[in-house]
Amino acid sequence: MGRDLGPRSRTVSGMGFHTLDDFDVRGRRVVLRIDINSPVDEKTLRLQDGSKIKSSVPTIRELVDRGAKVAIIAHQGRPGDYDYIPLNEHAAYLSQYLGRRVRFIDDLMGKHATNAIVALGEGEAILLRNVRDFPGEQAKKTPEEHAESALVKTLGPQFDLFVNDAFGSSHRSHASLVGFTPILPSAAGRLMEREVKTLTQVFQNPNRPSTFIFGGTKFADALPVIARLSERESVDNIIVAGLAGYAFLYTLGNRIGSKTEALVKRDLTDEVVAGAKTLLETKGRKLHLPEDAAIDVDGQRVEYALGELPEDAAIKDIGSSTIEKFNRIVMGSKTVFLSGPPGVFEKDEFSKGTAMLFSAIVDSEAFSVIGGGHSSAAANKFGFIDKISYVSTGGGALERLMLGKHMPVVEALKASAKKF
Ligand code: 3PG
Ligand code: MG
Repeated sequence: MGRDLGPRSRTVSGMGFHTLDDFDVRGRRVVLRIDINSPVDEKTLRLQDGSKIKSSVPTIRELVDRGAKVAIIAHQGRPGDYDYIPLNEHAAYLSQYLGRRVRFIDDLMGKHATNAIVALGEGEAILLRNVRDFPGEQAKKTPEEHAESALVKTLGPQFDLFVNDAFGSSHRSHASLVGFTPILPSAAGRLMEREVKTLTQVFQNPNRPSTFIFGGTKFADALPVIARLSERESVDNIIVAGLAGYAFLYTLGNRIGSKTEALVKRDLTDEVVAGAKTLLETKGRKLHLPEDAAIDVDGQRVEYALGELPEDAAIKDIGSSTIEKFNRIVMGSKTVFLSGPPGVFEKDEFSKGTAMLFSAIVDSEAFSVIGGGHSSAAANKFGFIDKISYVSTGGGALERLMLGKHMPVVEALKASAKKF
């Protein structure tokens, strides 16, 4: 059935993959993978920010306007984490931004989902259950291997076209992201298309001095990116802030407080620790790490120099002298890239580092690029989002793309375009 759909022409995009321009979708069943993984409030378990959801709407709008029957699949969080929540609220956001109902179907591969897919009318869209409920979703496999998964075997035959607009996940080789491409004609959505096009251009030639800021919590994810970037002539400064920065300091033998250590430890394999040490020895000149910290003492912000932290400290933000040091670097830059906030900006007591860093970024003359759900949520919260030169929905994906590395989702779309 898929083949009948046939692309109108070969990869109009010039990027090696199909886009929505290449297919006539009216009356066709389209399985659309999007990335609406959003920051979640730890207490209320409600979404904190809808900006990633909003970015996914143009593709949905175009598909329904052109008469497609659209079943959307997406993930939120990772099983076991507090932000692993169902997608009901996401569906409400989607409906609100789209101005049309996107019905949430609390099923992924069962009868209920199948019935809803069969019942789709032209111009209708539904959102299926969190795709990470499927146990094989996150396995790192090739598209061909994932094509054999129960997810793809069950859902695939019910559709005519696969559209992938999940740029924020394009660095993952998961079942729903790459598994449909060997069996269905596949296209990049509008967001995917724009991100890949714009960012590839932006990162060819940064204006210098260039500064790359990594925050957030995922040090193990960021380390290889930092290492690669540090080797580039065109990269002048690398700032590591947030929990990632303190995790870095911890791998180098600094104590960061037992509560902070408990959080960062689980990702720190021997390989990560060794990599961090080597990086500091070889490229220390470009690296900038926190020198003080703001910790949580009964909900209050209290600052300490790094060597003077209390034994049980829980670090929540960078401290004032770190803020000053980082801001000086930012103010002297012509390109600033930021992925991940430097502190727990959601709480007023710990938002100072994030607010002040953003303020320096927009006050500087730099071309600014930010990525990641938490970064855009932060920029939004402090009113800076419109002053940032380019806001990407990608966090990890953006980092990988800017290094010119293999992007599993992009490669899978390209391979599919050769086949269909
Ligand atoms: C993200 O928000 O980083 C993407 O949605 C990917 O999620 P993941 O890091 O849990 O794979
Ligand atoms: Mg991620």
